[in-house]
Amino acid sequence: MTHLFYTTQDWYQLPAELDWLTSAERERLDGFRFDKRRRDWLLGRWAAKIVLLRISGLSMWDIRRFQVDSATDGAPVPLLDGSPCAVELSLSHSHGRAFAAVSRGATALGCDIEFVEPRSDVFVETYFTDSERVHVDDVSPLNRDSAVTKIWSAKESTLKALRVGLKVDTRSVQVIDEGHHTGKDWGIGRSIVDDAGEFTCRWRVDGDFVLTIATRDPVEISRAH
Ligand SMILES: CC(C)(COP(=O)(O)OP(=O)(O)OC[C@H]1O[C@@H](n2cnc3c(N)ncnc32)[C@H](O)[C@@H]1OP(=O)(O)O)[C@@H](O)C(=O)NCCC(=O)NCCS
Repeated sequence: MTHLFYTTQDWYQLPAELDWLTSAERERLDGFRFDKRRRDWLLGRWAAKIVLLRISGLSMWDIRRFQVDSATDGAPVPLLDGSPCAVELSLSHSHGRAFAAVSRGATALGCDIEFVEPRSDVFVETYFTDSERVHVDDVSPLNRDSAVTKIWSAKESTLKALRVGLKVDTRSVQVIDEGHHTGKDWGIGRSIVDDAGEFTCRWRVDGDFVLTIATRDPVEISRAH
């Protein structure tokens, strides 16, 4: 089975110096006008490089050999010594925390982190399919916020795996919570996309956040610290 490594990194874990960025990355960072975007981008690059080091077996000394560019559609493009890496990388940021996942092999991959907070009925009616709405209506009020966040995040992960993002109707993705956990602490589900088939969705609650990973093929997940 394909192996996937992930990490979450908080703002306080960023090194004080920026010498882990390449000069091209420094230039890109300097080009951001808004502080929030600058911070999100920086934290995402840091998390991405942590997982890239882990999957390539390199040490922290090699961190500047990696550069994480962006494709024209916005998806992250990892380079090692200036050449494309043969890995799939996805990243996400929310409320001062970044989440990055990387796998080797051809499996399409998308990941997403979301802060668990109340989302309105109008939100659910607008973005969810009928059966997702039924699922949300069935959970106890106590678990509603995390159930809604989980479905929303799994949609985003799936749309990142497809490299389309929120340009498409989120109701073209049908998320199914299988309702049980396999092995450690990653729950399992599926997402079915109009005209694009099925993805495996994994999710876990991480403090006040929900993490989700969507992959075309099943993966074995390990944490890279
Ligand atoms: C992809 C998308 C759903 C992410 O939504 P979000 O909740 O705001 O942000 P997240 O923190 O979860 O994820 C952002 C990361 O997703 C990745 N991403 C962006 N577009 C992506 C795409 N088309 N496919 C896969 N991953 C993508 C990037 O790595 C981005 O972080 P970075 O810009 O710092 O590298 C959203 O950006 C989107 O719908 N984009 C539509 C396409 C678009 O407008 N692209 C802009 C081109 S520059």
